[in-house]
Amino acid sequence: MDTLAQARAGVEPDATPTTDLAQLASAHSSPILGRYFECGWSHGEGHRLYDTSGRAYLDFANGIAVSALGHHHPAVTRAIHEQVDKLIAPCSAMGYAEPTVRLADAIAAVMPEPLDTVLFLNSGSEAIEAALKLARRVTGRPGIVAFRGAFHGRTFGAASITSSNINYRLGYEPLLPGVYLTGYPNAYRDHGGDEERAVEESLRQLRELTTSSIPATSIAAVVIEPVQGEGGYIPAPPRFLRALRAFCDEHGILLVADEVQAGFGRTGRMWAFEHAGIVPDVVCLAKAIANGLPLSAIVTRRELQERWGKSAHGTTFGGNPVACAAGLAVLETIEREGLVANAAERGRELMAGLREIMARDTRIGDVRGLGLMIGVEFVTDRTSREPDGATCEAVRALCADQGLLILSCGTEHNVIRWIPPLDVTSAEIAEALAIFGSALRALPRSAETAGI
Ligand SMILES: Cc1ncc(COP(=O)(O)O)c(C=O)c1O
Repeated sequence: MDTLAQARAGVEPDATPTTDLAQLASAHSSPILGRYFECGWSHGEGHRLYDTSGRAYLDFANGIAVSALGHHHPAVTRAIHEQVDKLIAPCSAMGYAEPTVRLADAIAAVMPEPLDTVLFLNSGSEAIEAALKLARRVTGRPGIVAFRGAFHGRTFGAASITSSNINYRLGYEPLLPGVYLTGYPNAYRDHGGDEERAVEESLRQLRELTTSSIPATSIAAVVIEPVQGEGGYIPAPPRFLRALRAFCDEHGILLVADEVQAGFGRTGRMWAFEHAGIVPDVVCLAKAIANGLPLSAIVTRRELQERWGKSAHGTTFGGNPVACAAGLAVLETIEREGLVANAAERGRELMAGLREIMARDTRIGDVRGLGLMIGVEFVTDRTSREPDGATCEAVRALCADQGLLILSCGTEHNVIRWIPPLDVTSAEIAEALAIFGSALRALPRSAETAGI
């Protein structure tokens, strides 16, 4: 019996040596992909991920915020099985498939007005590409404004507005023309924690962009992650998002919210932009949308996509009926189980626990976030705020050794990101905090940070 069959049958895994997948992959699998773990994964059950030797890990990484309802969720698995028996092939060019049409309705129902029209695609990057194309064609303008530190994906258009790491751009220039990057309000790193100053400075840079580099009347879209993700889990101050909304309204610019990582209840609201009380013109969704199956979408008001025009864009696989059946189960589960509220409540517990740890450990410079999207930033000392990627990486590895999967992020790779499943329990939060605290205690401090 293999490990998965043993686990599902409730049998302890046997001690038979398992295939080393990393070794096997060295022959023909591409070497270019970065990996957090050199580990082979056998299966997932609830909030635990099992490696091929049968060891269980508490999964607070979720394939980077993808399996937001954990693994092998009964409602999602059932929906997938039922749809597989009916129709697998995507139908967008052929006509209509019921789960695809129904998921569009369901997403529109949880969007604020007037966002009522959904175009399905396959990945976050593809959603960004579609948003950029829509913006240019609908406005007839060339300019795209995005923020330094952002991650929007790896296809050419998405990479052109990405700057969280030079590796996403290196060797690919010239990227999309007409892109202008400006400062994101990072209060902790750039302004000693002063949010007001961060907002003022970013707005000043945006205004300067329009007087020095591109007139506001030539800008098609401003693209922003309401919580900067790969860049370090940095929520945009609500006042900044409101000012951006006003700027876009004043100049006829489309405001695009990239909710690929922050959306679907993760921040304690269905959409992260809701914390600021704004409504974007275009919302990009992916990751958690189908709990692991590839699916993404852009959502706009109907009139925008009508102006974009018939056949202005298209897709072979987008809106796959199996992925959309999973998506329906995800949304129904989020609503039935009150998971947006759970994200807010468990997020408060996690934040309080992490702040307690920070109070005892000067290697942590900042703990910030919204709901279940929290960043813990490591620094060599709190005054200089010098990023400490080495400690961050060591803590992450030690946590994995102790059975907790967490990931890092940040332009300096010095932030631990917390993205537990949306249905995480208080007991699991406590378990994860205990492992994190114990990993920090096990890690030798430098003489200076230990106060010696
Ligand atoms: C905010 C954001 N936008 C876009 C993307 C790109 O998504 P994908 O990897 O599915 O293309 C990601 C992926 O991490 C993301 O976090």
